[in-house]
Amino acid sequence: MFDEPTIGIIGGSGWLGRSIASAMLDKAFVQPDALVLSNRSASNPLGAKWSQVTVMRDNQALVERCDVIIVSVRAEQFVDVKIFAENRLVISLMAGVSLEDVVQRTGSRQVIRAMANAAAEIGKSYTPWLVTQEVTDEQKAFAQQLFETFGSADEVFTEHQLNYLTALVGTGPAYPALLARSLFQQAVTSGLPPAIALRAANAVVVDASQLIGNGHSVDELLQVLISYRGVTAAGLEAMIAYGFDKTIKAGLDSATSVASSMSPFAHSADTKEGPMTR
Ligand SMILES: NC(=O)c1ccc[n+]([C@@H]2O[C@H](COP(=O)([O-])OP(=O)(O)OC[C@H]3O[C@@H](n4cnc5c(N)ncnc54)[C@H](OP(=O)(O)O)[C@@H]3O)[C@@H](O)[C@H]2O)c1
Repeated sequence: MFDEPTIGIIGGSGWLGRSIASAMLDKAFVQPDALVLSNRSASNPLGAKWSQVTVMRDNQALVERCDVIIVSVRAEQFVDVKIFAENRLVISLMAGVSLEDVVQRTGSRQVIRAMANAAAEIGKSYTPWLVTQEVTDEQKAFAQQLFETFGSADEVFTEHQLNYLTALVGTGPAYPALLARSLFQQAVTSGLPPAIALRAANAVVVDASQLIGNGHSVDELLQVLISYRGVTAAGLEAMIAYGFDKTIKAGLDSATSVASSMSPFAHSADTKEGPMTR
């Protein structure tokens, strides 16, 4: 089955679905005639370059053509995705939808729940993933390779870990963007011309931060910078003293709490409906 499986992406024209489709094709992880996408409008997000990719409206028809089904619709849209995917590997990318919900609603017992982020578009997502007991080692190895077509990935072992990572990495560029905006606003408030403030904030958050991981670990960088006892140390120490870590904790706790409770199926009679049977 995992020798060149046919792969389907339900929601394959969305932000994440099309990024993943492009990454798998660009890396030749899947051939265009072995990739099927679905969405309600049957629109092809990949254009003429990948015209051999099949696009369809009928999600069940996609399931029947594919060995591996990736679900990349929004959690609230999953309510309308009526599929029966028994004996197929189902990979859910939906934030907040538990493994058990996916099992219940697809009829597959082989389910992987993964949390990618928007950096999939540039091949830089970090994608933690969690499996049901029935997922085989071969399927795990396949999934790791699939996720590596658009970045890096790790297996995790509890829903809590995945919900926490939904808050931490599912948010993609959001926290760095907040930092950039805050640096920009402070600089403007201090009298800097906005155009210069913007370039300065972006230069720090987008450009200078590339030194992290490029031969310099976070701890090593911070230790060296603090030990200079200069301007940078003063800035870092004041931020920490004024509650930087507490602010980050509050943000992650709040986002984790939403990730843990956002399932459209929680406490809903709809959960009992189960997969579409045929
Ligand atoms: N984007 C991210 O950075 C990110 C990060 C982490 C997790 N995620 C997760 O990834 C999932 C997708 O997110 P997204 O940002 O890619 O959303 P999106 O851009 O809104 O894409 C959703 C896709 O689903 C399709 N769709 C909706 N209902 C459908 C149905 N009944 N059958 C088939 N296709 C259907 C839509 O196309 P039509 O309207 O044409 O049907 C669209 O292609 C979400 O569950 C989200 O939690 C996304």
